[in-house]
Amino acid sequence: MTYDEVMAAWRDNPERFWAAQAEAIDWHTPYDHVVDLERPAGRWFAGGTLNTCYNAVDRHADGPRATQPALVFESAMTGREETYSYADLREHVSTLAGALNRAGIGRGDRVLIYMPMIPEAVFAMLACARIGAVHSVVFGGFAGPEVATRIDDAEPKAILSASCGLEPGRTVHYKPMLDEALRIAKHQPAVRVVLQREAAPCELTGADTDWHAFTRDAEPVDCVPVRSDDPLYLLYTSGTTGAPKGVVRDNGGHAVALTFSMAAIYGIEAGDVFWAASDIGWVVGHSYIVYGPLLAGATTFMFEGKPVGTPDAGVFWRLIEKHRIKAMFTAPTAIRAIRREDDAGEHVAAASLEHFQTLFLAGERCDPETLQWAERQLKVPVVDHWWQTETGWAIAGNMAGAGLFPVRPGSTGKPMPGWSVDILDTDGNAVPAGDSGAIVCRLPLGPGATAGLWNANERFIETYLSRYPGYYQTGDAGHIDEDGYLHVMSRTDDVINVAGHRLSTGALEEVIATHPDVAECAVTGVNDALKGQVPFGFICLRSGASAEPTAVIADCIKQVRRVVGPVAAFRSAIVVQRLPKTRSGKILRSTLAKIVNGDTFSVPATIDDPAILDEIATAIANAKP
Ligand code: COA
Ligand code: AMP
Repeated sequence: MTYDEVMAAWRDNPERFWAAQAEAIDWHTPYDHVVDLERPAGRWFAGGTLNTCYNAVDRHADGPRATQPALVFESAMTGREETYSYADLREHVSTLAGALNRAGIGRGDRVLIYMPMIPEAVFAMLACARIGAVHSVVFGGFAGPEVATRIDDAEPKAILSASCGLEPGRTVHYKPMLDEALRIAKHQPAVRVVLQREAAPCELTGADTDWHAFTRDAEPVDCVPVRSDDPLYLLYTSGTTGAPKGVVRDNGGHAVALTFSMAAIYGIEAGDVFWAASDIGWVVGHSYIVYGPLLAGATTFMFEGKPVGTPDAGVFWRLIEKHRIKAMFTAPTAIRAIRREDDAGEHVAAASLEHFQTLFLAGERCDPETLQWAERQLKVPVVDHWWQTETGWAIAGNMAGAGLFPVRPGSTGKPMPGWSVDILDTDGNAVPAGDSGAIVCRLPLGPGATAGLWNANERFIETYLSRYPGYYQTGDAGHIDEDGYLHVMSRTDDVINVAGHRLSTGALEEVIATHPDVAECAVTGVNDALKGQVPFGFICLRSGASAEPTAVIADCIKQVRRVVGPVAAFRSAIVVQRLPKTRSGKILRSTLAKIVNGDTFSVPATIDDPAILDEIATAIANAKP
């Protein structure tokens, strides 16, 4: 079937379409309805029971794929290389699941996972799924206070962690951050398990248990059937305010949607090798390092390392060759980083990529130049596609499994089944093709989309469903061109994307505002040639502030790193006399964004140049309400 035929089948009868996709999943008991509107965004496969771990692991381990590699791991940081067959994966996962059960953790209990990119993190996620516990993975680049916020919201019974993560030139010691998180958090998980990594073991204290002691002699346990709409995981993501949102993912809709996406969008069948070069702390890692490829019976490749400098800008291509990877998924930032070091593509030319068929990009806007450079070097289609933590898989993209339609650089392809995408003006009216507006999706959402926000139903409705009744507001703005391609251009809220990492400017502002010399502040994204965007701060000092402006900026930068974490990549700010505001006193963030991203300031290397900073200050002083 072509893309148009797949879309026609879905449009013609969405329920029949998804019921056909649901046949790829092993249900413990059949569902009653494909979708109902008991939840505003839709509830999928209600009445059915299944187990996601069973579908991702056991059914392959029980069949002809038992000895096929399920997970291949390689670390550029330690040299560790491992291959786990589906049978091996089941052994590890069911034993860890048994240990969790033994420690009193079961269906519905939350488990926080704060771990680096190692196979044990995947075992942990799947072990939770196996026993019906709800995992919440926190990205390693977040610091202790961010972990504390998530602990207090999710109230996990257990925390699984490791002694360290490894960044080029830097060891990330998790234990002190975890200890700080637990000092701050009101909720105290009873079970705390730490995996000691050779690179930097830590001292276990208080309630900490060593990972191997925790799993020793544990009886492997079977998969527990859960309801289709029971939560599989919570994943916190950034919103407009500093408080992260716990996106809830269900089991049934998720399993069906991801299985469909592996074949249709990525062109991956059982036995193929797929690599999502992301991190398990992000939704891309959840969907396409862990669940998607395993649900499909494929081999997932997991990499601890960076696209450049570990050891060089050829590492991605050598790994694609070595592991016979058929399709890869990464963020445009990774490609820009590689290009910066190897514009001529010498490393690409040195690799034999005959098994490689498609490169997929997402996570941030991809500039056409980057996409075209990758196409020229790799000589395969490079597909930009668009989605969000909330949706769990692509809203718009292309279909490698149905024969790709022509890629249009600068666009994120066309809508996928499940997603009726419209562009609305501020009055909520659909705009003509080519005109810009808010990107929205008609309700109900496709399977796999979030079932809501943890502990925050009203926030869910207010953030996503109330602005345009009958629609889900994506928070992105853009247009659909005359040929039906979607162009995602910017956010409509205070979220920025830094190296493909989603951050809330509000969260950074909250930290900066705690400095005793800061009267008020604003943070906006400034264009960056490598990371797409980086945060830039505007700070007004209190009258009579004791510290020098440069010292205040330095303190704020340090404090953001300490409280939010290094992932914030907050390195630049300016002290200004005032912030532009509306007559009612609201800071005009869009004016600030325009000022720093105007033609004069678009070269990021110069954002800290005193002359540019002077110009920014003058532009702000002259900004009209
Ligand atoms: N644990 C701890 N710290 C982390 C981390 C993790 N898992 N991931 C990133 N960090 C740290 C980095 O070490 C860096 O710290 P530093 O300030 O001490 O240098 C900081 O957070 C900022 O990270 P990043 O913005 O990623 O910059 P970088 O210079 O380390 O790497 C790239 C730049 C382009 C190589 C990197 O961003 C990359 O590979 N991006 C690919 C995009 C991607 O994976 N996106 C995920 C969604 S698809
Ligand atoms: P996250 O929830 O972290 O995956 O971030 C989702 C946000 O990243 C989206 O709402 C967009 O703002 C942005 N994004 C993701 N993919 C793309 C893309 N292909 N093009 C433009 N923006 C994207």
